[in-house]
Amino acid sequence: MIAAEWFFIVFRILHIGAGTVWVGSVFFLVVFVQPSAAAIAPAGAPFMSELLGARRLVDRILIIASVTIAAGLILYLRDMNDAGGFGDLLGTHSGVALTIGGVAALAAFLVGLFGTRPNVQRLLALGRQIASSEGPPSPDLTAKVQSLQDLIKTLARTSLGLLGITVVAMATARYW
Ligand code: HEM
Repeated sequence: MIAAEWFFIVFRILHIGAGTVWVGSVFFLVVFVQPSAAAIAPAGAPFMSELLGARRLVDRILIIASVTIAAGLILYLRDMNDAGGFGDLLGTHSGVALTIGGVAALAAFLVGLFGTRPNVQRLLALGRQIASSEGPPSPDLTAKVQSLQDLIKTLARTSLGLLGITVVAMATARYW
């Protein structure tokens, strides 16, 4: 019994710790890093390419997100088991709140995996193309970079919005 408690305490620490890092990283990126890089463009380009390319920020955020989701799913299964099943958990207000938060977090993860990640890779490839060519980039290439940057900004804001829903739902779940 005590061993089982410790098992779930470890998963709670993993879940809440990784979730905090995930939300904090996306918040810092959207609210501070992206606007700062845009404000000093094009001087911010080498910094963004180091952060997103060499340091693989998006991949690392996705790994942290996977830990949050995996630990959250284990806690969810435990709560489901305690409630008597999926339908019974959804019959409680806190179960609904946890489910809404979990689904929003999962959606944020999918936006990162299938939206942000491939588009960041496209942007980095265009950056390498510009760096290896002589002279200033063509207007066509500049327009492509701009539209990718706009898309990545929108995707990151979408993730942050979804994570905002998760934080509110998870933080208030037990009080509903
Ligand atoms: C960024 C994402 C997430 C954050 C920041 C987060 C945060 C939290 C926090 C702070 C709690 C503690 C609530 C309390 O004890 O009052 C919690 C609990 C919980 N979370 Fe999340 N969560 C996230 C994603 C998820 C996901 C994807 C799932 C999976 C379905 C999930 C499932 C749960 C469950 C089942 C609990 C209750 C644990 C228990 O009964 O001991 N969470 N979460």
